[in-house]
Amino acid sequence: INNTVFDLVLFGALGDLAQRKLWPALYQLERAGLLAAESRILALAREEMEPGAFATRTAKRLEAQLDASDLDRNTVQALLGKVEYQAFDFSEAERYSVLKQWREQRSVPLIVYMATQPSIYGLIGEGLHEAQCIVADTRVVVEKPIGHDLRSSREINDQLARYFNESQIFRIDHYLGKETVQNLIALRFANNLFAAQWNQNHISHVEITVAERVGIEGRWGYFDEAGQMRDMVQNHLLQLLCLIAMDPPSDLSADSIRDEKVKILKTLRAITPDLMATHLVRGQYTAGTSDGNPVPGYLEEEGAVRESCTETFVAIKAEIENWRWVGVPFYLRTGKRLPEKVSQIIIHFKPAPHYIFDPDQKHLAHNKLIIRLQPDEGISLEVLTKDQGLDKGMRLRQGPLQLNFSKAFDTARIPDAYERLLWEVIKGNQYLFVRRDEVEFAWRWVDRLIADWESSGEAPRRYVAGTWGPVASIAMMARDGRSWYEED
Ligand code: BG6
Repeated sequence: INNTVFDLVLFGALGDLAQRKLWPALYQLERAGLLAAESRILALAREEMEPGAFATRTAKRLEAQLDASDLDRNTVQALLGKVEYQAFDFSEAERYSVLKQWREQRSVPLIVYMATQPSIYGLIGEGLHEAQCIVADTRVVVEKPIGHDLRSSREINDQLARYFNESQIFRIDHYLGKETVQNLIALRFANNLFAAQWNQNHISHVEITVAERVGIEGRWGYFDEAGQMRDMVQNHLLQLLCLIAMDPPSDLSADSIRDEKVKILKTLRAITPDLMATHLVRGQYTAGTSDGNPVPGYLEEEGAVRESCTETFVAIKAEIENWRWVGVPFYLRTGKRLPEKVSQIIIHFKPAPHYIFDPDQKHLAHNKLIIRLQPDEGISLEVLTKDQGLDKGMRLRQGPLQLNFSKAFDTARIPDAYERLLWEVIKGNQYLFVRRDEVEFAWRWVDRLIADWESSGEAPRRYVAGTWGPVASIAMMARDGRSWYEED
């Protein structure tokens, strides 16, 4: 393994993202021997601290976060040995000279991770530029949300573009770092069995469900501005849709893959007002249960300050207007406070052209490919076989050909998305990061949809916490003679 030496400067080192995701991911990279000994991390946040206090705090937090079986104190120390903490006010231009000094005499790549509000990306870029810290192999990592709509996303992207080239910008959509999401590329393009069938001749429809059990988790203010459409569909669901629907890229380079994804975003049929009734369902949860415990409704959550029409559930019938997918709906569904946390994609194949078995079983007779992204990562293909037993004649039976990743490959643990993403940034590989035009085409489609529903004045439909969303989402499928996939 080429464990490249780098310098990482982490803005927002004490923030929620850094604490929940980045420090544990860096720990795992250290543990795997991927952080070269000469690499350094400069952790920056506003808070003044005694020398050593940051290391103590981070070590404690890591020890509390990691599973006992996963915790190795020497690794924690080795990681923290690479870290220096500095209190830092992002808005004070003269502070950036610290970075200049820190980088003096260093020729290794600099990674700038902005784990901060997007509103200060420009400020940080300017500070780094003035301190002459940005050179050709400098990389900058930014997080969603990239804006609230197309206009604001352009502003953010423009701010970044003032100081960085597109080839230096690593926009994170953490779903792309999930091992099983990357597996979609392997599944589709390394298996000709599927590749040859992957079109409207053989597939009738596709379901993409990203369900969460959690509610708003103390971030009502942020969420209420965004809603499930901006928080989940604009990024994670559309990325999954692109990976399922895109044409084969000519190679695995970042631009070949991203060019193909953009083509899909461009061909998504607009959900115009005349389609709203059949193609879109918005929901908001009311009080109910989660895991058997009573939970409040969205409007009674901590921090809820007003009546709100923000959606916590969306179901969409998306259509892709190209040769490969004409007539094949992609049913997307995502929501908070659903019965379980599960992300899965179901590819429904068309039935055989001529059916010769028991007429009562005709509804069974199509194959389904179930790609389970989380939890219990794996792939399962529902196939039809003959039921066993002399009395069964040629009755059909549906059963899975199953590949459970952790069982089949004896994987000790599946790396968290941020481990993979940080590792790709270190290597300078952009294929798991979102290009500017992807962000913008996704916003274009989402903005139009939001504008139309807002002008319709329709409130979201209520659903009880702990259920699969408004019944209208079931009706949306039923209208097409279909239903959401349910495990037996
Ligand atoms: C984030 C959203 O991007 O993804 C959250 O802002 C959501 O609202 C989260 O809970 C889901 O991610 P995961 O990895 O837990 O499926």
